[in-house]
Amino acid sequence: MAKKKILLTGDRPTGPLHLGHYFGSLLNRVRMQDEYESYIMAADVQALTDNWEHPEKVRQNVLEVITDNLAAGVDPARATLFIQSQVPQIAELTVFFANLVTVNELRRNPTIKSELAQKADLFGAEGESLTYGFLGYPVSQSADILFLRARAVPVGADQLPVIELAREVALKFNKLYGPKVFPVPESVLSPAPRILGLDGNAKMSKSLNNAIYLKDTPEETAEKIRTAKTDSEPAIGYDPEHRPEVSNLVLLYALAKDITPQEALADLGPINNSTFKPLLAQALNEHLAPIRERRRDIEGKPGYIAEVAAAGLKKVLRKAKITMRHVRKAMRIDY
Ligand code: TRP
Repeated sequence: MAKKKILLTGDRPTGPLHLGHYFGSLLNRVRMQDEYESYIMAADVQALTDNWEHPEKVRQNVLEVITDNLAAGVDPARATLFIQSQVPQIAELTVFFANLVTVNELRRNPTIKSELAQKADLFGAEGESLTYGFLGYPVSQSADILFLRARAVPVGADQLPVIELAREVALKFNKLYGPKVFPVPESVLSPAPRILGLDGNAKMSKSLNNAIYLKDTPEETAEKIRTAKTDSEPAIGYDPEHRPEVSNLVLLYALAKDITPQEALADLGPINNSTFKPLLAQALNEHLAPIRERRRDIEGKPGYIAEVAAAGLKKVLRKAKITMRHVRKAMRIDY
């Protein structure tokens, strides 16, 4: 049997995961876990780069995002889940990689630039309080990916420039120190379209209070759908450009039923918003039922998440040690 390709991806534990994460990323992980040797990391060190004043929030959400992944169907028998801060080799590799990336490259990185623009409260309107840690998170993310020698990195479009940097780091390291130390990773874009917030905002997000969480109850989900923004046209439709809010709801219906938005419209007929909304709530709740059931199982087993993370850690540490032996030898620091 051919060896499976290694896949790594991560979540910043800054809040519970919502339907945007689920349809954009988690469902994809679940579907890929047989084809790839999969690793899923709670990126707590990275979350601290813009939450260093709120370590308790990061800590609490580490358990939350691991639970969300397992509830969504990531199977710890097939995929390996672990916590970034428990792998010292990632920090070590970050220091070595830091020599291979210029400050200008980081400042020009489109992901860093757009995140900085959104974080003026933390880093100043002109970036005058930008920290070394935040500016350098793409270097640390290169280490996340390369310590496992991952080839496939599923991410959202906003993260593509960070993965590009990881590719450059791998190429540069190999060129300088040894031609085959690291494979060059590739990003895998999720096929799922972008989910808007329930208020029509371009992003479903906790801070905008416009999200349906995987951990919401059926009643909470139905209530959020009931009050979601629509328009005053007589019938629902799918026209993301001109009718973004109702199109987003039709898209959610289609994703819940695993059909296209066009098929959803054909099935539903020219109904109005108030007839459609309960049907959408029902479709979502049916789709989420097995996820909620797995969550109940997990919550009924105290200590289970800790066990999964401990088993995952054991496995990745074995791999990390092997990688670091190669790295130290290549860098002539294998004293
Ligand atoms: N930066 C990613 C995000 O914000 C999270 C992440 C951390 C990640 N390390 C990673 C993703 C390694 C892919 C690979 O979503």
